[in-house]
Amino acid sequence: DEDPRIHGIKTKIRVVPNFPKPGIMFQDITTLLLDPKAFKDTIDLFVERYKGKNISVVAGIEARGFIFGPPIALAIGAKFVPLRKPRKLPGDVIFEEYTLEYGRDRLEMHVGAVELGERALVVDDLIATGGTLCAAMNLLERVGAEVVECACVIELPDLQGRVRLNGKPLYVLVEYH
Ligand code: PRP
Repeated sequence: DEDPRIHGIKTKIRVVPNFPKPGIMFQDITTLLLDPKAFKDTIDLFVERYKGKNISVVAGIEARGFIFGPPIALAIGAKFVPLRKPRKLPGDVIFEEYTLEYGRDRLEMHVGAVELGERALVVDDLIATGGTLCAAMNLLERVGAEVVECACVIELPDLQGRVRLNGKPLYVLVEYH
């Protein structure tokens, strides 16, 4: 029994074939952001799930986790911590590498942003292979935080990204096959 708001959200996500390269069906959430009702429904669905769960930190993954993470954090009374691509954060960082289709990338987090024993929610727009969320969870767990759940707007289930999450729960609003 799907929440009736999910359908509206689905219709606002634009699929762009062959972007950024041939064969990729790009899931474009900028068209969702253009619709205030669908954007609000997206945030509300996450907030309804996570309010009252004692989450102290929402960690958002660059770049589109920076769009969905902060309004969720504000609504549930948590702090927001950006997990960034290399050499963007000015302070001392810890980092986790992950594999891309070609080569490797890394996510960085400021030392001291998250403390031992904090309860964390990881937010991004989309899970594909799961490598990015896995790196994000590792950063939080290395500083002694408990990752309560990962939350994404979109999942590409055919890529089996959940396997990379080591049993950690993942909540998504929309699946795209
Ligand atoms: C996309 C998406 C996720 C990641 C998921 O980011 O926003 O962060 O890929 O892929 P994975 O599950 O296979 O790791 P992208 O690589 O487009 O980077 P950007 O947000 O900086 O544009």
